[in-house]
Amino acid sequence: MWGGKGVPAIAAVVAVLCVASAVPCVLGAKDLVKQLSNGFTATHAAGGTAPFEPVLYAPNGVFALGFLRVGSASLDLAVVHLPSSFPLWRATPARLGDWSHAAKLTFDSSLVLTDPDGGVLWQTLDTIGDTAVLHNSSNLVVRRYGRDDPSWQSFDTPSDTLVLDQNFTISTPPLISGNRRFALRLGKTYMALQMEFYGGRATPTYWRHTALEAQPQNATEPPVYGRLDARGFFGLYLEGGSQKVDTLSFDTFVQNLTGVFRRMTLDDDGNLRAYYWADGAKDWTSDYKAIAERCELPTSCGAYGLCVPGSAQCQCLDNSTSGTSPPCHTDEAADLCAGAGQQMEFDVVRRKRVSVAYKEELPSETNKTADECKQACAGNCSCWGAVFNGASGYCYLIDFPVETLVYEADDRKVGYFKVRKLPSPTRPGISAAVPAVLTLVLAGAAAAGVYIGYRMWERRKRKRAGMEQELVPGPYKDLKPMGSSNNSFKA
Ligand SMILES: *[C@@H]1O[C@H](CO)[C@@H](O)[C@H](O)[C@H]1NC(C)=O
Ligand SMILES: *[C@@H]1O[C@H](CO)[C@@H](O)[C@H](O)[C@H]1NC(C)=O
Ligand SMILES: *[C@@H]1O[C@H](CO)[C@@H](O)[C@H](O)[C@H]1NC(C)=O
Ligand SMILES: *[C@@H]1O[C@H](CO)[C@@H](O)[C@H](O)[C@H]1NC(C)=O
Ligand SMILES: *[C@@H]1O[C@H](CO)[C@@H](O)[C@H](O)[C@H]1NC(C)=O
Ligand SMILES: *[C@@H]1O[C@H](CO)[C@@H](O)[C@H](O)[C@H]1NC(C)=O
Ligand SMILES: *[C@@H]1O[C@H](CO)[C@@H](O)[C@H](O)[C@H]1NC(C)=O
Repeated sequence: MWGGKGVPAIAAVVAVLCVASAVPCVLGAKDLVKQLSNGFTATHAAGGTAPFEPVLYAPNGVFALGFLRVGSASLDLAVVHLPSSFPLWRATPARLGDWSHAAKLTFDSSLVLTDPDGGVLWQTLDTIGDTAVLHNSSNLVVRRYGRDDPSWQSFDTPSDTLVLDQNFTISTPPLISGNRRFALRLGKTYMALQMEFYGGRATPTYWRHTALEAQPQNATEPPVYGRLDARGFFGLYLEGGSQKVDTLSFDTFVQNLTGVFRRMTLDDDGNLRAYYWADGAKDWTSDYKAIAERCELPTSCGAYGLCVPGSAQCQCLDNSTSGTSPPCHTDEAADLCAGAGQQMEFDVVRRKRVSVAYKEELPSETNKTADECKQACAGNCSCWGAVFNGASGYCYLIDFPVETLVYEADDRKVGYFKVRKLPSPTRPGISAAVPAVLTLVLAGAAAAGVYIGYRMWERRKRKRAGMEQELVPGPYKDLKPMGSSNNSFKA
């Protein structure tokens, strides 16, 4: 990452403004831009050396809007907490800009980020405003003269972070982790952490918090919204008022810690954490996390991993690798459905002493035998696995790609997991993307090469989508199947 080297960045942007706009070239570091008016333009020079180029400052000097370098070579627009260099908000366009090319931010009724060809990377849609300012809260606000309510504000489109006094409502888009694998969504009476599979078509929940005093059965009760409070808690309130229906209190709640800046971020490991920054601090301090134990995080040991509580060690579900570093398997980008009720070929891994950390959130069936549980999954192409509890007769179905399971020292807890058979000429990404004739050609001796090409294509695609920290695909040979697809749990 990059440090908070504000001075060179500021110097760089002053120079840019002199060249690119009508702002007179007498700006010193003290005359920082605090407001954008119609006609404003700032440019990012191709390949700039500072990782953040501020354009607009909050009056308190703590936050700035500017061009942010993402990863090694991408460009985004961001609101950054300057003391920590942490981006609190990012525009996150579907297609990120390229840091090695020029880019332009203009304000003309709305904010628009364009690439050198004039292609629009991002803009505030349907906005008519006279000024754009960054508030002391870090909220970027576009407003008309004489109007109190904003035409547009960044608080309404969070990326992975909420800050003090930012309302997170049922109509706010979800928080999405930087690696785009996790989301925080609000339901009418609850908030939930979810995994994102198949480009968001499957979003299984792995953590849920229902507002204590909300009444889910009362249809006329308004939905809840959440807000981070300076006193050290995340409050849930009924919309249209300030009636508090629940409090998630942080470790510092009892300390009456005033004057610190707080944020709540959906981190790349899928945990939701609160942090605070005290004046003169060197780093953020975390005082809340939604999920306490590493093994309860949904992907702590990667796909087909097994997390052993206590030591929080990682194994692979099939026991085949002695190495403990994830992942055991690459992540799946599509289900096993081949159309017309057909299912693609798969191998099976069976394992005793396994459970799922968030099984209450999985579809389940009761009064099953291990074999019936397996059958409920085996024939269904959208099912990737089943976990059976022989003590209770509960059968939990995993209708999304298998992620990390949890070790439990109970022989009656058994699991059945499908593993895509590879190399396969009927890989969905290929068969869906190219005509049948071409598929047949590709299906020959080149199948392995095509697969590698597909992975590379997909990795490039994900990089383009701004995935900074994707998992490194592991070799498939690490996961040796332990039986054929018509075996039952019983080994
Ligand atoms: C923002 O912060 C600055 C400096 O701390 C202060 O002078 C100003 O009054 C604040 N603005 C608002 C609207 O609170
Ligand atoms: C958040 O919601 C409260 C209560 O509805 C409202 O008073 C406040 O203005 C909202 N804040 C923002 C930044 O929209
Ligand atoms: C349902 O919620 C509304 C709004 O909060 C409240 O006025 C009403 O009394 C509630 N009804 C019941 C049956 O609790
Ligand atoms: C918390 O701190 C503020 C300012 O330091 C003070 O006014 C307030 O009384 C304190 N509250 C409690 C409950 O200690
Ligand atoms: C996996 O390894 C553990 C410990 O090494 C062992 O107890 C267990 O029986 C093995 N499981 C299988 C299915 O081989
Ligand atoms: C499950 O089995 C128990 C005891 O055998 C029985 O009382 C119960 O009704 C069954 N439940 C269902 C949903 O079949
Ligand atoms: C297959 O599993 C999905 C997800 O669990 C379920 O919605 C669907 O009804 C199942 N299909 C059949 C034919 O059982």
